Amino acid sequence: MPLSFDAPARLFTLSTASTTYQMKVDRHGYLLHLYYGTRASGDLGYLVTHCALSGMSGQPHEDADRTFSLDVAPQEFPFQGGGDMRSPALLVRGADGTFGCDLRYARHEVRPGKYSLPGLPAAYAEAGDGAETLSVTLADERLGLEVELLYGVLPAFDVITRAAVVRNVGAGRLTVEKLQSACLDLVSGNFDLITFDGRHAMERRPSRRHVENGALSVGSRRGMSSNQYNPFMILCDRDATETAGRAWSMSFVYSGGFLAEAERDQFEQTRAQMGLDDGLFSYPLEPGESLVAPEVLMTYSSAGLEKISHNLHRVIRRRVCRGPWRDAPRPVLVNSWEACYFDFTGDRLVELARRAADLGIDMLVMDDGWFGSRSDDRRGLGDWRPNVEKLGGTVADLARRVNECGLGLGIWVEPEMVSEDSDLFRAHPDWALSVPGKDPVLGRDQLVLDLSRADVRDNLFGQLCAVLDQGGVEYVKWDCNRSIVDVHSRLASDQGKVLYDYVLGLYDLLGRVRSRYPDLLIEGCSAGGGRFDAGMLAYAPQIWTSDNTDARNRLTIQYGTSFGYPCSAVGAHVSACPNETTGRTVPLDARGVVAMAGGAFGYELDLTKLGDRDCELIKGQVAAYRQIEPLVREGLYYRLSVPEEDDVCAWEFVAEDGSEALVCAVVTHVDGYGVTSYVRPRGLTPGAAYRVEGSGPELSADALMDMGLPLSASCSPYESFMYRLERVG
Ligand code: GLA
Repeated sequence: MPLSFDAPARLFTLSTASTTYQMKVDRHGYLLHLYYGTRASGDLGYLVTHCALSGMSGQPHEDADRTFSLDVAPQEFPFQGGGDMRSPALLVRGADGTFGCDLRYARHEVRPGKYSLPGLPAAYAEAGDGAETLSVTLADERLGLEVELLYGVLPAFDVITRAAVVRNVGAGRLTVEKLQSACLDLVSGNFDLITFDGRHAMERRPSRRHVENGALSVGSRRGMSSNQYNPFMILCDRDATETAGRAWSMSFVYSGGFLAEAERDQFEQTRAQMGLDDGLFSYPLEPGESLVAPEVLMTYSSAGLEKISHNLHRVIRRRVCRGPWRDAPRPVLVNSWEACYFDFTGDRLVELARRAADLGIDMLVMDDGWFGSRSDDRRGLGDWRPNVEKLGGTVADLARRVNECGLGLGIWVEPEMVSEDSDLFRAHPDWALSVPGKDPVLGRDQLVLDLSRADVRDNLFGQLCAVLDQGGVEYVKWDCNRSIVDVHSRLASDQGKVLYDYVLGLYDLLGRVRSRYPDLLIEGCSAGGGRFDAGMLAYAPQIWTSDNTDARNRLTIQYGTSFGYPCSAVGAHVSACPNETTGRTVPLDARGVVAMAGGAFGYELDLTKLGDRDCELIKGQVAAYRQIEPLVREGLYYRLSVPEEDDVCAWEFVAEDGSEALVCAVVTHVDGYGVTSYVRPRGLTPGAAYRVEGSGPELSADALMDMGLPLSASCSPYESFMYRLERVG
């Protein structure tokens, strides 16, 4: 049983295959966190000693002997008002505007299966998963406030999920000023916090910092999860490596602003939290209303960072991503963006499709520029009518022509946005988020539509259906190219709700599109990888990873992305050289290896301009990709180097049963004549032998893992390698 409740001790124990999570209701009715770590049994309450050391900290009024303080106690859901002066998960105001609440245990319930959340994405369970849900309700009777803490246990995935529902069960208005979804209080340890930071065209670089006394936090105030910080973090031992040390992670299943915090307190305890951005958030709840704190996926590893990634890859791929594309090979694409930008016609795209067909490519994606007056990035957003003059017909007509070449058709959309120079804006200027009397801030010359409004969503859904209902579109790249600055909705009862309700509106729209077109493959995108989060992955099983397609930089970006997300989600394309972003030239071979062993593969260049040699190379790459695709999509991923530190960047995929592996390497730096580099794979079957590509000598798995696989002696910069290892016997 994944969930057990010891009634006399009021102890909850959540078990997965190799972890245990334990909490208890203490004598005051507070819900204390006891343990999250390697699977363990018994009452682990002995770990909590600090409550007795409360010193000068505040006590609950009834604690006459002064032996307890929430300022010291490890908690499941810390709140402002109980004497805990660390960062709270919940900050709420009562009807009279006063702060201060006091949440105590009210009741709990264990349910079979995994909870789902109204209006928000969440991991799900399938029959046979043995998943269970624990709901623990905390209440503050004075305020008329209840908080239902939800815990989902996915035992085989070694994942525990958390979410919370805040309910106004009283007679007056409550206002939620801060809401975190999950809190993890660790009573002891010296930790690092790893976050994944960056910018447009350089997303998710791991940033590792000591958690010292005080608070460390990252987040997004942009209304989107952002290119700058990713809603995913790892807390780990200071000496944790890929393969050793303890690590805990939190992944936010949400695509809006977020706040990730880590704080070391006066007693050297560490608190990590993940939840909603509290910046422009102030959510009123009238009597009877509730607010859901989105889900956080948590996992624990006693064996370093690699295991964290393996657990997350598995659960995101299999229990967050949904629909027919979840487990299916994805089409190899050619995307028109870096091939032609806005400068295309239907004929030019058909020419591109024809060449792509010769090379074995499956789908042409018509990127930005096919609709309304969209001849550049200053106009046209919001008018999702095909430009029939440019295309030489409708989208369905183009699809027929592309299909005749043997390819499917995909299209780019950015439904959340509107240009001031568009028919939609001219007809409905009030549909854009903007503060009355203030000139709205432009981003890429566009405004953000108010997706918190049902009428706006209905219009967008109608426009999208008008295109998609005609048939022929098999794939949609759903983009979102600016942050929300002017947080004001004409219809909102309170502006503090807008950013959250916007995200619910986005999910509603995406959900409607998914239900009407269940076979449609949606690729997420936001100025490249600005909305690469587990929330989007519930709607779009793959996401454009970055607008930076330079293979050298992609090694770094894909390395960082791999900590929290599976390769099945990583859109990775080969583009032209010199690279549009960096000006760097990397040989086509290496560009191919980085993209095809990166994830969902494709090309982003004008194939009609390539010489015969490059065409042959690309044909070979597409064919090679078909061979390795199942491993890239489903294999266990190993980071074998650190791209910014090592001269050879290496990574590996291993089938879950160890029967095959793919070792990939790109030489990124050479000194002098160079020395032979050895790449040490991991995860091979100990004691077994492997052959490269099924032929040649038998190589001992143990020797390979101990001393490595030699790359050729004198490598040149950007020489690339891909070795398929097959287990013998
Ligand atoms: C964003 C995307 C690109 C491309 C352009 C089109 O920048 O990340 O891939 O689709 O928009 O305008």
